[in-house]
Amino acid sequence: MSKSIILIGYMGAGKTTIGKALARSLGQPFCDLDWYIEEQCQCTISDIFKERGEDGFRQIERNMLHEVAETEDTVIAVGGGTPCFFDNMDYMSRHAETIYLQASIPTLIEHIHISNTKRPLLEGKTDEQLAEYIGHSLEQRTPYYNKANHILHIDTIHLQEDIDGYVEQIKQLTQK
Ligand code: S3P
Repeated sequence: MSKSIILIGYMGAGKTTIGKALARSLGQPFCDLDWYIEEQCQCTISDIFKERGEDGFRQIERNMLHEVAETEDTVIAVGGGTPCFFDNMDYMSRHAETIYLQASIPTLIEHIHISNTKRPLLEGKTDEQLAEYIGHSLEQRTPYYNKANHILHIDTIHLQEDIDGYVEQIKQLTQK
């Protein structure tokens, strides 16, 4: 048994896409914290934000992080905000090997546009507002993200080949 791998990074960095492929390649289970939360709460992340506000969501997110991060030999993708609340970042680094998927703002925006995921914090924003919001919140979040054990730079993910390349790089970084 060995420590799980936790992928962190801003919304649209590719945590779920790369995480799923990494888990497949390692023959390990994949866990997406947002999906886990939705399954446990029997409602969507957007509904949790609507009904309990962001503070309520962060509390649930913290509790559920503790449930999933105790496992070993699992690839876990957490939400973009997870590392930035409570002692979540230190907690994750204690229990797993953490990897920050770092992407530029244009790459994040491109990925956000092509994904089907509903993201309450980004809802209704024009491209200009999106760039401004991401710029501001990325600046606040980067000190938390930079605490990860490894940092991997991500360019736009267009092809399966791109995903496979990142999977190989993570395997090298983590010596798996
Ligand atoms: C959030 C990111 C989302 C989700 C929630 C809040 C954030 O996850 O947890 O909408 O604060 O960055 P993804 O990063 O998987 O989109």
